[in-house]
Amino acid sequence: MRACNPLHLRQGGTSVVIEFPTVGVPAIRYWGPDLGVLIAADLASLVEANRPQHRVGDVDEPRAVSLLPLPSDGWTGAPGLEGDRQGLAFSPAFTLTAVDGGPGVSVEGEVGPASVVIRCDDAESGLRLVVEIEITRSGLVRQRMQLHNLGSSSYSLGSLRASFPLADDLTEVLDFTGRWMRERVPQRHTLTVGRHVREGRRGRPGADGSLLLLAGAPGFGFERGQVRGVHVAWSGNHELAAERTVLGGTVITGAELLLPGEIAIAAGDSYRTPWVYASHGDGLDELAGRFHGQVRESARARSGERPVVLNVWEAVYFEHRLDKLVELADIGAEVGAELYMLDDGWFLGRRDDRRALGDWYVDPEVWPEGLDPLIRHVKGRGMGFGIWVEPEMVSVDSELARAHPDWILRPGDRLPPVGKWQHVLDFSNPEVYAYILERLDWLLGSHDLDYLKWDHNRDVLEPGRGGRAVLHEHTLAVYRLIDELRERHPHVDIENCASGGARIDLEILARTERTWTSDCADPLERAMTQKYTGLLLPIEMSGNDISASASHTTGRTSSLDFRAGVALLGYLGIQWDLTRATEVELAELTEWVALYKSHRRLLHSGRAVNTDHADPSLMVRGVVAHDRSEAIFTLAQLTSALAPSAGRVRVPGLDPDARYRVDVVTPGPALRSRAYTEMPWVTSGTTLPGRVLAQSGLEAPVIDPEQVLVVRFSRV
Ligand code: DGJ
Repeated sequence: MRACNPLHLRQGGTSVVIEFPTVGVPAIRYWGPDLGVLIAADLASLVEANRPQHRVGDVDEPRAVSLLPLPSDGWTGAPGLEGDRQGLAFSPAFTLTAVDGGPGVSVEGEVGPASVVIRCDDAESGLRLVVEIEITRSGLVRQRMQLHNLGSSSYSLGSLRASFPLADDLTEVLDFTGRWMRERVPQRHTLTVGRHVREGRRGRPGADGSLLLLAGAPGFGFERGQVRGVHVAWSGNHELAAERTVLGGTVITGAELLLPGEIAIAAGDSYRTPWVYASHGDGLDELAGRFHGQVRESARARSGERPVVLNVWEAVYFEHRLDKLVELADIGAEVGAELYMLDDGWFLGRRDDRRALGDWYVDPEVWPEGLDPLIRHVKGRGMGFGIWVEPEMVSVDSELARAHPDWILRPGDRLPPVGKWQHVLDFSNPEVYAYILERLDWLLGSHDLDYLKWDHNRDVLEPGRGGRAVLHEHTLAVYRLIDELRERHPHVDIENCASGGARIDLEILARTERTWTSDCADPLERAMTQKYTGLLLPIEMSGNDISASASHTTGRTSSLDFRAGVALLGYLGIQWDLTRATEVELAELTEWVALYKSHRRLLHSGRAVNTDHADPSLMVRGVVAHDRSEAIFTLAQLTSALAPSAGRVRVPGLDPDARYRVDVVTPGPALRSRAYTEMPWVTSGTTLPGRVLAQSGLEAPVIDPEQVLVVRFSRV
């Protein structure tokens, strides 16, 4: 059945040691930094040295926390599996029945396989559990479980959680909250005895959704401090938890959050969980780098470089006038935009956001000759063309809702509360699926389009059909629909948007090229959103637009340098009524776009670095090429520094043994500012070894608040 017990999986700087006990479900006995080659005797000793001991008040034969901690192992925390058969079979006890180690099961002194499939059965409960564990090439550990109903009655599933044991010294929890326009606000807690839970019940991950639940050594930062984190790759409801128990140990878990009665597994049928990913690092950057590696692998391979997007939303909103849209295209092309995005407002009767979602036909009143004249003009200026849709939604005031009220997700006869004057369609209904597929296929097939911005602007509350919850099915159908469209229109890129960043998870990221991280383009707010969304999202997928000087969402005014400097580390866009920009602004914007283009190959492929600068008023972020030949860092002075200067900035991640030419490459007036000229390395550049840059660093120039310095490092 198995070649090696314990089994050592290794890949991408990560080790996982799994023990297969004679009773109960196998247990992860170690996961984290690579342990190197371990002979069988060492692995056995690793397990023995950490054998749980009998303690007064505990069961007589305590077991290590298993992959599915259950009361039948003596576990007293939240069980890995909750469910029943109409009140029976409430407490299963599984026995290992098969292990499939994939190609080349681990043998003494060799690197083990990077995946294993474990099967456990409980004849009395009539259940079979199949757990897949893999280490991805970037060193993420991922788990997915399938629960089979081998009995003769239906099994009602409450929850099925993927668990990872957590070392006792990782006592500081970091998770995220937020809201529309202020996504990803970090919050830290001490993990004491008890269960710390973050639930996403909005039918999408949510602006307040914690992309990750992290636990680390107290004070862990981006550069250092042991940290572990879990993410649920699922765009519906989710649960993340960390639980410290008095007797059994500590776990960190992730799961799809199921609605009551949502998953009734019929006899002979099964339910499969989403992938739950776990990462580790000495510092958050290392942990995030594993996610970036995975997203880069799973996202569709791109042929070219990501274009600079000109999105006309904040320029025109719902006022679609061909002359103005053409003028925007002309100016956009002049400043260097490469893709023109026609946002909301092009379809039947959509004159404001209170109507028409679902009626995906070009509005003949606004567009008497269709979209083609604009598309032709844009293409004539050498740009690609993209268009906005919100496929899952239907306005209360729409032809679609009037014709098919039964297509709306609802708890029973009653409709859920209206949000943003709209409801959510039930994609698990084949008729709905066919209608939306036909409309989107028509849109992409009968126009010369390169890009689709896929929006999702309200929560999915009370998602049911015929009185039963169907969020799980609906979510899978959304994935299927995107996959089908992508197959039919492989050249079309998709932007993932949900009122900004309210739907970010590894499944949606695998199907999209860009994520609009927030509707708030005010750089002061946005700097934080981008930094923390970047724990999951690689820089080249982070949609960052340069907006007008006065932010449309906060009213705050900021300089072009600050707006562009903050947007630089991303998939760049412009969302600004350029017909109102001054000649000077257009010239500066052109310089910023050119700077971005000349470095985007590096920005979009390198390793993201954040320094834990002592003064939080200065945000230091950068991208270092994988071969460490070059790097770009931005020094963003968010507010005024605590001291007269923000102090010494260390530049980690470069080759310590190489020498680097250091140049400030900020375009625009920032460089001409009085304060900078006093620092020789800023005005004339310098050359320093990577080791010196990492350890000694560079004195940050005195920068006024809300300015950014862009610094390039090139190996000499
Ligand atoms: C919300 C998005 O986040 C915006 O960028 C814009 O596309 C609007 N929806 C359009 O309704």
